[in-house]
Amino acid sequence: MAELMSMATMLLFLLLITQFSITTAQRNDSLISLGSSLSPGTNKSYWLSNSGQFAFGFYQQGDGFAVGIWFEKMEEKTVVWTAKRDDPPLPQDTTLLLSGDGRLFLQDEQGRQEHISNASQLAASASMLDSGNFVLYNSNSTIIWQSFDSPTDTLLPGQRLVPQEGRNRLISSVSETNHSSGRFQLVMQSDGNLVQYPVLSIGLLPSHHYWNTETYKAGDNVTLNLDPNGWLYLLNSTGSNIKNISDAGRSHLGKNVLYRMIIDVNGLLRLYSHSMVQNDDWVVEWVSTNNLCDPTGLCGLNSYCDLNGQGPYCVCLPGFDFVDQDQKGLGCERNSSTYGCGTKNDERVTFEELTGIAWEENSYSVVSLDNKNACLEECSRDCNCEIALFQNQQCSKKKIPLQFGKTTQGIVLITTIIKVHSGEVGARKGRNEHGRTGILISGIAISTFGLIALVVSGILVCRFRMWEYKRIGNHGSNKFLEDVTLRPYAYAELEKATNGFTDQRLERVIADGEREFRNEMKVIGKTHHKNLVKLLGYCHEGTSRLLVYEYMTNGSLADFLFRSETKPTWEERNGIVLNIAKGILYLHEECETQIIHCDIKPENILMDEQNCAKIADFGLAKLLMPDQSRTYTGFRGTRGYVAPEWHRNMPITVQADVYSFGIVLLEIVCCRRSVEMDVPEDKVILANWVYDCFLDGELDKLVEDEDAEKIEVEKMMKLGLWCIQEEPSVRPSMKKVCLMMEGTIEVPPPPNPTSSVSIVQIE
Ligand SMILES: *[C@@H]1O[C@H](CO)[C@@H](O)[C@H](O)[C@H]1NC(C)=O
Ligand SMILES: *[C@@H]1O[C@H](CO)[C@@H](O)[C@H](O)[C@H]1NC(C)=O
Ligand SMILES: *[C@@H]1O[C@H](CO)[C@@H](O)[C@H](O)[C@H]1NC(C)=O
Ligand SMILES: *[C@@H]1O[C@H](CO)[C@@H](O)[C@H](O)[C@H]1NC(C)=O
Ligand SMILES: *[C@@H]1O[C@H](CO)[C@@H](O)[C@H](O)[C@H]1NC(C)=O
Ligand SMILES: *[C@@H]1O[C@H](CO)[C@@H](O)[C@H](O)[C@H]1NC(C)=O
Ligand SMILES: *[C@@H]1O[C@H](CO)[C@@H](O)[C@H](O)[C@H]1NC(C)=O
Ligand SMILES: *[C@@H]1O[C@H](CO)[C@@H](O)[C@H](O)[C@H]1NC(C)=O
Ligand SMILES: *[C@@H]1O[C@H](CO)[C@@H](O)[C@H](O)[C@H]1NC(C)=O
Repeated sequence: MAELMSMATMLLFLLLITQFSITTAQRNDSLISLGSSLSPGTNKSYWLSNSGQFAFGFYQQGDGFAVGIWFEKMEEKTVVWTAKRDDPPLPQDTTLLLSGDGRLFLQDEQGRQEHISNASQLAASASMLDSGNFVLYNSNSTIIWQSFDSPTDTLLPGQRLVPQEGRNRLISSVSETNHSSGRFQLVMQSDGNLVQYPVLSIGLLPSHHYWNTETYKAGDNVTLNLDPNGWLYLLNSTGSNIKNISDAGRSHLGKNVLYRMIIDVNGLLRLYSHSMVQNDDWVVEWVSTNNLCDPTGLCGLNSYCDLNGQGPYCVCLPGFDFVDQDQKGLGCERNSSTYGCGTKNDERVTFEELTGIAWEENSYSVVSLDNKNACLEECSRDCNCEIALFQNQQCSKKKIPLQFGKTTQGIVLITTIIKVHSGEVGARKGRNEHGRTGILISGIAISTFGLIALVVSGILVCRFRMWEYKRIGNHGSNKFLEDVTLRPYAYAELEKATNGFTDQRLERVIADGEREFRNEMKVIGKTHHKNLVKLLGYCHEGTSRLLVYEYMTNGSLADFLFRSETKPTWEERNGIVLNIAKGILYLHEECETQIIHCDIKPENILMDEQNCAKIADFGLAKLLMPDQSRTYTGFRGTRGYVAPEWHRNMPITVQADVYSFGIVLLEIVCCRRSVEMDVPEDKVILANWVYDCFLDGELDKLVEDEDAEKIEVEKMMKLGLWCIQEEPSVRPSMKKVCLMMEGTIEVPPPPNPTSSVSIVQIE
């Protein structure tokens, strides 16, 4: 049935395409004849398309005019194209001419001309088509120039981006009202990948990308297409659809719907629809990311993007002030010029810290150090060091300026240490009030809850990781205490117990909103299973929101598997897999509120004294209401472990956890990371290698010289391959996984899971 439906959709789509080209071929349009002209401010300032939907001509820009194309029938005239967008506004006395000899140009009062089109032939007529394409025809009615071939920030149905200079990118606008080239671009690359980058004046690197379709192997001549039903997809050079980027529009079904895709001022791709019947505003059908801080370089030098509250906001580093208070995107500079190597005035130097902010990788020196304080010492001894990042026992020293700062959504704790020169701290007083006080006690980072954004269903508690508690009002505190039957801790008590929160295994977490904090506490507080890390208590004092978890002596599974000197035995590994499976089964099926963990990976599994594995970090977890089995949500989780449906804007079900579990299972069984770079090419991606070995009947090769029974090894590998199937419904439930592991059910031979398992080349 579903297949029939999509067949029908495809057919409809083909029909529409065909119809579209016929329309063009028959030139069902109002022709503009040679000798016509337009001028702003008169009653002949634009030409309309046949249906009156689109207009080509002069529109107001700043205190002058620009030439462009816009939706004319709407109350809010939406501009979709601008000629010579980076030229200054045109004065009132400008004329646009389609001259008698077939050229299209602007002429000012002094008679100076500037060409709009660079067609190689002379035109015989022009037309504003109903598709939004302004075209010039020669005497044989062949299109010799069209606005669709020089896109600005918008793609209209029927228009495509092709990997050819001039036609391969959209560049965002400066602002909603200024259509000059802005700061972000979408590029249809010749390697087949569609990628978003910042527009930088110098030195664009692949690592600056912030979104891509991961089609870098699709070869030459891949094109981005938008069809009249709002489908956004990539075609390869032979015309096969290789990637659906957005579904057909959902908000407005039926006919008389207009679509446009735009790279917006802040760098996100958005597909909009507009119903001509209801004649309402544009509705967002699809957006490339829900994290508004994703676009690289949204904030300027020495500042970082923060989602706190209604974000995104640009925040200056401590000791820095905005270059321009009114334009916070322009970055920050030191609030003091008296510093630097060589200036030997005995200024006082202090250090400030930020957590959870990622920066461009441009360190001049990286040192392995045990802890943050050693990193701070290292930086203080080095007069070139102005900023140091501490992460994963690595201390990276940097000079300013820093760029591309944004709050991270990953679990790895990054500390930014900033050298602050005397007299600067005072200027940043406001920062601490912002409340970087949330701290997590126990084994590992957990939880935090973001603002409720883009949630389809109103009953969902939707959260995503953020690193700052917002200041929370007093209301509701007492109620909160009644709701939770956990031990309350005093802030001072925790501070003492953790040595002033200096312990490496603490993580600061920050959240937004009392309600989410309470919900998390209630739900996680009620879970009770031997394979879940136990929540013992909380601290709810002033602006502090801390969660206290049981202490897990043996660290994380990642340490246990990949970093310890002796490999755990086959037996132990088997036990760990079963523990994890049972923990997830409990979350999925056995507790009161069904929970999708969303971030199963070795870093989030902790080992107790007896090496029993327990799942931790519910920071990303989603809670489902009893009658709900799926949810739409913004991206969460960790690359490498997340199920393919996260990338596809598909509903997320418990099967997403099954996928992550499958990846972790293969890692545990093979005692290696799912992606390793320093191995032969065919072994880089563990899942692919395992499937190759499975096809060759050589699964035992994966667990060299170990006293594991071949048949046991095969069972685990096959189970892992089942769990990582691209199609969520093909993956077994956790219940079934447990039964298979225990031998109650046979594990049948798995199909090929791998078409979606790949890494992003350009990282
Ligand atoms: C041409 O446009 C008119 C008005 O929009 C429409 O009624 C007519 O069906 C169109 N003809 C063709 C062949 O598309
Ligand atoms: C402008 O429109 C008005 C009224 O529609 C008409 O009287 C006038 O002649 C027009 N002017 C030109 C230059 O076409
Ligand atoms: C639009 O922005 C550009 C770049 O910031 C600027 O140079 C130009 O003056 C602006 N145009 C208007 C009409 O404000
Ligand atoms: C017109 O401009 C486009 C984009 O700048 C370029 O690719 C094309 O070759 C030009 N055509 C002519 C005839 O100069
Ligand atoms: C129009 O078509 C004729 C015949 O195909 C050809 O000889 C002529 O050069 C074409 N004219 C233009 C302007 O392309
Ligand atoms: C790429 O595709 C365009 C349009 O489909 C076609 O005209 C062109 O010849 C193709 N180029 C290559 C190198 O395949
Ligand atoms: C285009 O995609 C189809 C389907 O994935 C594939 O069979 C074909 O080989 C691809 N063409 C090229 C040139 O890569
Ligand atoms: C894109 O979606 C259509 C319609 O659902 C489907 O038939 C097609 O297989 C999809 N293509 C890819 C590459 O997923
Ligand atoms: C730096 O901050 C201090 C304290 O707010 C202020 O008095 C001083 O003017 C600032 N210096 C500069 C150069 O902006």
